[in-house]
Amino acid sequence: MTDPATAAGGVSAGTVFNLVVVPGDGIGPEVIAAGRRVLEGAGRIFGFGFEWREVLIGGVAIDAYGAPMRDSDMAVCRDADAIFFGAIGDPRFNDPKATVRPEQALLGLRRGLELYANLRPVSVQPVLRASSPVRESLLEGVDMMIVRELTGGLYFGKPSEQRQGPAGREVVDTLAYTEGEIRRVVELAFGLARGRRRKLTSVDKANVLSSSRLWRTIVDEVAPEYPEVEVEHRLVDSCAMMLVQRPAAFDVIVTENLFGDILSDEASVLAGSLGMLPSASIGARRTAYGLHGLYEPIHGSAPDIAGRDVANPLATILSGALMLRWSLGRPDAAEAIERAVAAVLADGHRTPDLLATTGDATGLKPVGTQAMGDAVLAALVASASAGAAGRPTAGAAR
Ligand code: IPM
Ligand code: MG
Repeated sequence: MTDPATAAGGVSAGTVFNLVVVPGDGIGPEVIAAGRRVLEGAGRIFGFGFEWREVLIGGVAIDAYGAPMRDSDMAVCRDADAIFFGAIGDPRFNDPKATVRPEQALLGLRRGLELYANLRPVSVQPVLRASSPVRESLLEGVDMMIVRELTGGLYFGKPSEQRQGPAGREVVDTLAYTEGEIRRVVELAFGLARGRRRKLTSVDKANVLSSSRLWRTIVDEVAPEYPEVEVEHRLVDSCAMMLVQRPAAFDVIVTENLFGDILSDEASVLAGSLGMLPSASIGARRTAYGLHGLYEPIHGSAPDIAGRDVANPLATILSGALMLRWSLGRPDAAEAIERAVAAVLADGHRTPDLLATTGDATGLKPVGTQAMGDAVLAALVASASAGAAGRPTAGAAR
């Protein structure tokens, strides 16, 4: 193992990454504060820094500017190396008649920046198996990557509206895809499967939907380019069932936008809490260090627990690790953060969401949002200084 302090002395020593940070609404600012401290700590250890540009997007932007996102902020996001995103959504804008809603900004960012693939890795920390309502024996070996198509499908098809029809109010949403939109995300998923356990599950509803039938055809067309990857087609309803019945059987899942939204929240139950799952939204555009991307926890703004220092920041901290890996070219720092997260959990640190389903909390350390972030930071620093102090001493004593 390389000493992180010296490993960072390579070509990128002293790099300052140009990041946009979007705290957003609800618990967003709290989880982002914890995530930022951990990233700053990783930078100090590995020898890089960050220039943060904070922008208001979401309900906070509606309050400040009357719009969920200003065009100028979209441009700032486009120019950054990556975007570190908390959560947006505010019940004050839930009125079905509201024409301005915080979520429009997130969808606008995803589409405007052409972040067509949303990667949602799902694994279960061994010490959290008891936190999941799913039987522990089923969780062994769970390690999947959900690839959710992010800029098409039901979220963006037009028309999408309520209107007055001859028989009263009527409503329409549209599930539309071009073959190019399907192919690029399918190819990305095949590429990921090739580097993992070489199994791809394409999820659709081809027994009912035309869009799914083209999706399936394209998966079959792309498959010969990846002969080493085993492909399976699965209907979304059956996939939902199998996610809890035999979750360890999945490797990479690729699916339409709304199907992916639903299945990934379901899969988070395996990990013990929605507060554990990070995500990376990426597209084709390269920056100086990797792919341009947006990194956010899969959970929402959780307004019911906002401002109380109880939210789990680990999904955000792990999203920071994904950012280091995919956008900033620092897989070494990403792994160090992931190991630090595993270490604090093994050490018994638990935010309330992780305690909720645990029968016996003996020996566990209940913590709040910021204390959890600080624990991860401390573990990161401790493992770096253990490395710098010279492993042989520790190793010799065993
Ligand atoms: C997610 C969220 C968003 C989505 C909401 C906040 C619009 O649920 O990222 O999964 O539906 O994509
Ligand atoms: Mg969702």
